[in-house]
Amino acid sequence: MENLVNKYGGWALITGSSQGIGKGFARRLAAEGFNLVLTARRVDILEGTAAELRDEFNIKTRTLSLDMTQPGSIEQIIEFVADIEIGFLINNVAFSKPAPFLDLSENNLSKQIYVNVETVTRLTSHFGRLMRDRDRGAIINVSSRTGEIAMPYFAMYCATKSFINLMTESLWFELKDTNVDVVVVKPDQTATEGYLSKNPTIWGDAGIQTVEDCVEESMNALGKYAGWLTWPKSRDDVKALRDMPLEDAISVNGAGMLSVFSGQLKSTS
Ligand SMILES: NC(=O)c1ccc[n+]([C@@H]2O[C@H](COP(=O)([O-])OP(=O)(O)OC[C@H]3O[C@@H](n4cnc5c(N)ncnc54)[C@H](OP(=O)(O)O)[C@@H]3O)[C@@H](O)[C@H]2O)c1
Repeated sequence: MENLVNKYGGWALITGSSQGIGKGFARRLAAEGFNLVLTARRVDILEGTAAELRDEFNIKTRTLSLDMTQPGSIEQIIEFVADIEIGFLINNVAFSKPAPFLDLSENNLSKQIYVNVETVTRLTSHFGRLMRDRDRGAIINVSSRTGEIAMPYFAMYCATKSFINLMTESLWFELKDTNVDVVVVKPDQTATEGYLSKNPTIWGDAGIQTVEDCVEESMNALGKYAGWLTWPKSRDDVKALRDMPLEDAISVNGAGMLSVFSGQLKSTS
């Protein structure tokens, strides 16, 4: 099997990696032998994840506790890893709030743009340039299925994820003849602590994807595809929606959001 540490470089930086999909990637890359830089806000959970992976896989870890909605966090991350080669970058952290668009506060709008657009853009640009100059590296940007077709009551989230899709898919072409692999992955409903804590009232008939399956689909897409919907059901659903008149597709998504998040759409904090 191909040795990914030799191929990409020894350290992986994963934002938002103390739990959920980020932790799933951390575990997967630790098993490959990568040393890990992990970030999150809650120190105890972050340190627990780092210790768990360090002990199980005999790797090195660095942890950075910070709130990535705060201006300055991008510079803090870049500075924190300035002395090591980041061979693998996973932009995983996101900020979202299901709510009617006009009920979102200015502060909320700004934070969604800062975390989902500016942070992903600048970390991809900074580390991507270093990887291009070394002619080796990998970037996985974690987007969402919602970035494919407009999603009422998740307007900012789907729009910012759509930005990540188009930026990363363009970069894929620019780097496809180099040794830097880039992919944007688009999970659907995935059984993470964050998603489950929102208490959605239904999953839909086809259930929900596991973190492990989401991570495996993502790793398999790297080096093959520009963008990848990680759940087979999503690939069918998105294709069916694209075949409809746009207004019908948006209406299907809107009705879905209302049923999944019923009762949660009034709060705008
Ligand atoms: N789960 C899904 O159904 C689903 C579907 C589509 C796309 N996605 C995408 O997958 C990615 C991960 O989602 P997830 O469900 O795994 O999330 P999650 O379970 O809530 O985990 C989020 C991780 O990021 C950290 N984090 C959250 N906000 C942060 C902040 N402001 N600053 C620094 N760290 C922060 C969390 O730790 P702390 O809370 O301690 O900071 C945690 O480690 C996101 O990009 C999301 O949009 C998820």
